[in-house]
This record gives sequence, structure tokens and C-alpha cells, in this order.
Amino acid sequence: MNDATQIPLTARRGAHLQGRIRVPGDKSISHRALILGALTVGETTIGGLLEGDDVLHTAQAMRALGARIERTGDFAWRVHGVGTGGFATPADPLDFGNSGTGVRLAIGAVAGSPVTATFIGDASLSGRPMRRVLDPLEKMGARVIEAADGGRLPLTLQGASDPVPITYESPVPSAQLKSAVLLAGLSAPGETTVIEAEATRDHTERLLKHFGAKITSKPHGEHGRRIVLQGQPELEPANVVVPADPSSAAFPIVAALIVPGSDVILDAVMTNALRTGLFATLKEMGANIETLATRDDGGEEVADLRVITSKLKGVDVPPERAPSMIDEYLILAVAASFAEGITRMRGLKELRVKESDRLEATAAMLRVNGVTIDIDGDDLIVHGKGSVAGGAEVATHMDHRIAMSALMMGLASDNPVRIDNSAFIATSFPGFTELMRSLGADLT
Ligand code: S3P
Repeated sequence: MNDATQIPLTARRGAHLQGRIRVPGDKSISHRALILGALTVGETTIGGLLEGDDVLHTAQAMRALGARIERTGDFAWRVHGVGTGGFATPADPLDFGNSGTGVRLAIGAVAGSPVTATFIGDASLSGRPMRRVLDPLEKMGARVIEAADGGRLPLTLQGASDPVPITYESPVPSAQLKSAVLLAGLSAPGETTVIEAEATRDHTERLLKHFGAKITSKPHGEHGRRIVLQGQPELEPANVVVPADPSSAAFPIVAALIVPGSDVILDAVMTNALRTGLFATLKEMGANIETLATRDDGGEEVADLRVITSKLKGVDVPPERAPSMIDEYLILAVAASFAEGITRMRGLKELRVKESDRLEATAAMLRVNGVTIDIDGDDLIVHGKGSVAGGAEVATHMDHRIAMSALMMGLASDNPVRIDNSAFIATSFPGFTELMRSLGADLT
């Protein structure tokens, strides 16, 4: 996508939302399936892949590193990988567009291969911190040849020819950081260990196991985990089924809760406990979210969810819940604006380094639309009054989740809400506008 593409969109309050939908495949698992497929000799097949811009950039990067990747049907992909440490030196810089997950995981994978690659991205991604992944990867033997200030993109990395296994105590709760170290650890002899004080999404661990690696994960302290990967495994090609993304489901779910008279069913939403902090929080607020059926879908639990408009109340969201809902605070803040009472979301430091500074952007999005909101250190405090005035334009800062959150607010606010740019929604949720319209949403 061109950074300059501007496609404004307006959401208006209209009829209730009704229908049954399935949101696209999980973004985290989609990136990982492509990267692990590329690191495995033989043919990996992927079903339900998220065909959003972020993931397509990862597919393109894996091709440039030597993997053969084809689309074989709707959301169905085939990867012929090169094996751990088997990447080829790419001819051109690897462009990751808007995607922090794509670039940080790929940096980890390249760090364990004896190749040199340059990583680039759009203006949003170029402003995001990469030092957090470079620190452990340098300890493993990778070398930063060139980088912008603070280790940011554009960045040229020389992978290690003989990577050294490390034990790394992660200073930030980040699944991307954990995954980068584990992916580099694949080509190191012996055990690579990552210790996290707060457990983050475990899709890399689950998929590594699925591809035949020896990896264990044990509780560490009150909320953490100690993950140990046996290096240089013989990865075996696998069949990966990508379940529907709970972070995408979050938008229609909150819309159904706040638009009066709505009744919406979402099929096969992944309910991995390290991803469902939002659902737990909404239920505490009084949301009527009913689990109709559960089953296992490719090693992850999924559920069909029925959501009915509910009267919500403000709650206190504890900091230890943050990793399990880190991408959902924007849309939770929208739900909190329509609730009665104060919602305090604690410990949101990491929100400052996402696709935008989401702490400030959330406050700005709500304030211009008449909601009272405070930032107190790393806490976000929303003063819910049961309704929102709306009527303003929201600056989306190249951030897909601001765009979708603002639009969901506009579906229930007294006056329309306009966003300056809907183009970035396609990074994580292609077809979002059409899917929401199919439920009855007024988006023009
Ligand atoms: C992701 C981890 C999270 C999340 C991102 C996806 C992943 O980022 O915000 O959308 O797939 O590992 P951090 O690792 O920076 O917390």
C-alpha cells in the first residue's frame, strides 16, 4: 500500500446488526505458518490463511529468502521451504509494509541463517522499536550492519553462521520478541530458553511443536512462562489450519453489544486463553456473549459466539490481563464509552509502541467525539455515560485498529463518526467494510 493512499469512511447509526459471519484467519498464526513453512524442507499446506497486506508482505519476504510459496485456492497456500539456516541472500530489501509481527519474526529467522538482509517498512513501521529484538539476536551471533536511530528500520542484519543458544529473560511482555529468539534458536545447537514474566500468546510454541520441534513451556512465577527449545530440530512439513482471528472478531462483537437490538453470531473464533482477555472483560461489564459450540480447529480451541446488545457497566481491568488483550484496548475503550461508569485499564505501556501511540490515539479518538477520558501514567480511564455524541473525524495514524474502532463507535453514536483513512484496515481485516455492511452497518 502507498503511504499516501487516503480513503475516508463514515459510520452512521442505523438499524440493528444481525446475521452470522466468520471473520478472516488469525494474523499471528498466518505469519508464523508461512515463516515456519519456509524454514522446513518439503511441502507445508496452509488453510484459512489471512490474506491481508501484513501477511502478504511476509509471504513475499519468505519467497525472496528462497522459499517457494503459491496460493492454491481461497485462503489455501502451499509453501516449499528451504530448512533452518537455509535462507538465500535476498536480492532486494525485504519490505514488511505496516507489520511489526512480520518484520520482527523474520529478523529472528534471518538471524539464524548465514545471510545478510535489509528490512524496510512504511512510515508507521519505520518508527517502531526494533532494538528489543536485536539485543538478544546479537547475543546469539547476528550482527547489525546498518540501522536507523535506535535500531529502527531500514535495518541491515547479518545472520549468524554459527548461532549460539542463549537463555533470555524478556524485559517486555512481547510474543514477537519471544518468537524472534525462538526462531533464531532453531539453528543454534543445544537449548534456547526464553523466560517471560507475563505469558504472551503461544502460537509460535504450538506451531513449532506441530512442525516436530522439541519445545517445552512451564509456568514461571505468578504469571510467566519458561520456554525451552531444543535447537537444530529436523522440522517436518505440516498441514496448518488457521482459525478465525479473535482480534478481528472483537470489532463486530463490540458493535453488536452497543448497537441497540443487535443479535450476531460469529463462527469459529479462536479462544486460546492467551488471546481472550477482551471477552473476559466484556463479560465482566455485563456483555451477553454466549458460547454456542466449541471444538478444536488445527490445535487451537474455537467457539461459535452469539452476541446480543447489552447494557454495560464500567470495570477495572488489571495490568496482568494486558498481554491477552494487547490489541483490543482501543475497541474496549469504545465499549467502555457506551457503558455506565468508569472503566480503568491498567498497565498499558506497550500500547505506546504499536502501529501508532495507541494510548494517545485512543484518548484523541474518544475526546473529539465527546467522551471524557484521562491518561494517568500507563492507565487509560474512560468515563462512560451510556451514550456517545460522535460527530467528529478521527485521525487514524496508519493504524488499522484505530480505523475499525472509530467506525464501530460511529455505528452507535448520536452523530456520524468519520475516519480520515480506511486503507490500512486491509492490513489485518480484508473485507471488513463489506462484512460489517452484511450485518446491516451503515458505512459509506
Ligand atoms: C503479536 C504480538 C503482539 C501484538 C501483535 C501480534 C504476535 O505484539 O500486538 O499484533 O503475533 O506475536 P508484541 O509482541 O509487540 O506485544
